[in-house]
Amino acid sequence: MKRPKLIAGNWKMNTTLSEGIKLVDILIHAQKKSPFKARVAVAPPYTHLSEFRNKLMNSSICLAAQNVSDKLSGAYTGEISVLMLKDIGIRKVIIAHSERRQYFGETNDIALEKIKIILKHEIHPIYCVGESLTDREKDRHYAVVEEQITAVLYKLSDEKIPKITIAYEPVWAIGTGRTATPDQASDMHSFIRDVVGKRFGDDLAGQLQILYGGSVNAANAGELLSMPHIDGALVGGASLKADEFLAIIQAAG
Ligand code: 13P
Repeated sequence: MKRPKLIAGNWKMNTTLSEGIKLVDILIHAQKKSPFKARVAVAPPYTHLSEFRNKLMNSSICLAAQNVSDKLSGAYTGEISVLMLKDIGIRKVIIAHSERRQYFGETNDIALEKIKIILKHEIHPIYCVGESLTDREKDRHYAVVEEQITAVLYKLSDEKIPKITIAYEPVWAIGTGRTATPDQASDMHSFIRDVVGKRFGDDLAGQLQILYGGSVNAANAGELLSMPHIDGALVGGASLKADEFLAIIQAAG
């Protein structure tokens, strides 16, 4: 099954609005000059979203958020609801990034609630999974990722599966410059597809888009993206440098 490639930039807590505008303007200009073959998304900080929505109105670059509340509205100081994201045209949201799991106590249960609420409002989740260095060293990486998949995806109905993107991001590869090898990444992607296939069948599992994330850069993107189970990349640090991000997009197409 041929799955479209998606290159998504997760800017994390980086760039002021004016820095962000400079960066996104370069991407818009590049895309106008030579349309991207891969699908491209950017997830800047919340403060940029409204401004970026206007800029990206006539562009194929998709606007994503880095997080969302699991509640719809009410007295939840500091939270942002799916209704607010939908109102400004957000189409994807990163859910349960390992930094949210690690620093903000996000569990599989919370991830499930967030995924349910955004799917209900027709926004697509990019659900992040991945093991820590200790998990890998103790050979628990498959078990950890299986639990992250079954605890969330197995609780959803069949028709929701094609609307979900998975991002496999081994924690030991995030921001460390230590990338998973193409074989390590592809093996885990294939494992994830098997786990999903066991519950939902091979057809739906075959449609599932699985991104790799963790120190993806212009130099390693080509090899990673050529692997059969790697359907794109979730890029952190390298998405903050326009040339580097554009080279990764190029490598996908
Ligand atoms: P780096 O590309 O900086 O390793 O970050 C990956 C990531 O966490 C993307 O969500």
